[in-house]
Amino acid sequence: MNKLLDLKKEDIYQKKIFLRADLDVPVKNREVGDSTRLNAWYPTLEYLLKNQAKVFIAGHLGRPAGIDEKLSLKPVAEWIKKELELHNDLKEVQVGEFKAWELTGNVFVLENLRFFKEEEENNPDFSQKLAALAQLYVNDAFASSHRAHASIVGITKFLPSYAGLRLVKEVEELSNVLNNPKRPLVVILGGAKIETKLPLVEKMHQFADYVLVGGEIAENDKVLLKVQHEKITGKKSALILSELNEGMTDTTLKSVENFIQISQTAQTIVWNGPLGIIEDPKNTATLEMAKELVKINAYIIVGGGDTVAFLKKNNLLDKFSFASVGGGAMLEFLSGIKLPGLLSLEEKQ
Ligand code: 3PG
Repeated sequence: MNKLLDLKKEDIYQKKIFLRADLDVPVKNREVGDSTRLNAWYPTLEYLLKNQAKVFIAGHLGRPAGIDEKLSLKPVAEWIKKELELHNDLKEVQVGEFKAWELTGNVFVLENLRFFKEEEENNPDFSQKLAALAQLYVNDAFASSHRAHASIVGITKFLPSYAGLRLVKEVEELSNVLNNPKRPLVVILGGAKIETKLPLVEKMHQFADYVLVGGEIAENDKVLLKVQHEKITGKKSALILSELNEGMTDTTLKSVENFIQISQTAQTIVWNGPLGIIEDPKNTATLEMAKELVKINAYIIVGGGDTVAFLKKNNLLDKFSFASVGGGAMLEFLSGIKLPGLLSLEEKQ
C-alpha cells in the first residue's frame, strides 16, 4: 500500500489533494453527535495543510436515495471549521460539478457523494469528475473501504493514490489480529446492517474460537442455525446465539452473563455492534457487556460507529485496546476478505 508518509514532502507541497474521509457520523439536530470517526482522520488533514496542500475533503453520510437534506454533510463541514478554529460563516461554492463548502482557500468539503447514484455504481465518468478536482488522491476512509464506490475505487484509476495516516494504522492493528491472533479468540457480533453481517458470521465462524451473536442480528436465528449446522463439521469454533427479551429489543442479561463467561477465557476479543437498541435506556445489555469486558485481561478490539459512540458516551472507550473506525469494514477485513479500497491502493504500486 502506498503510504502518505512515504511521499516526499515536495510531492504534496502546494498540491491539490482529494481526501476521501470517513464522514459517516451520527448527526443530531444538525450537529455532529459523535466525532470519533472525524478525529481519527483529522491528523491527515493537518499533515496535508502543514505542507500547504489544497484539500478537497469528500465522503458520504448515511444511505440516501438521491438528494436528502437530512443527510447533508453541512454539520460535518461546520465541525471541521470549528476544529480549524475558523469563525466565518460557511461559504457554499461549486467545485467542478460538485456543491461544496469553502472553509479557507485551502480547505473544501464536498456535499454527500451518495446524493449521486454514480458514487455507489463506481461509475468511471463520475470517478473522473472527482479526480479532476485534484492532483493526488488520499484514502483515509477505512470504514468505507469495503465499498467498491467511485470515491474509494474508481478515482484511483485517474490519480496517484495513497493511504492516509489512520488507514495505515487500522491495517497494521487489524492485520496483527488477522494473521496472528492470540487464542482463544472470541468475536462478539451485534448491531444493525444485518445484510452486511450475516454472511460474515459464517466467515468469523471459521476464524474465531467462539462467535457470540446478540441483538437484532440474533433474530435471524433460522439463518444462523443453518450456518451452525451446515458448517460446523470439522470446526472447533462455537457459534452461540443470545436470547432476546420479550420485545426483541435487547439481549437478555442471562445471555450477557453467558457471553462474559466465555469472554473471560479469551486472549483476544473482537466486538462489533450493540447487543440491543441502545437508544432505549431500559436496554442495558450493551452497557453491562462493556463494563465487564473492560475488566478482562485480553487484547480487545471494538469497532463500528454505534458501538464506539456508545462506549465513548459511557467513558469506556479508552479502556479498550484498540477502537477501529470500521464496522462492516473491520469485520470484512478480519474475515480475510481483501477490501476493494485497499486493493486499489495496492494495485497502484
Ligand atoms: C459504515 O458506517 O460502516 C460506513 O460508513 C459504511 O457505510 P455503508 O454500510 O452505508 O456503506
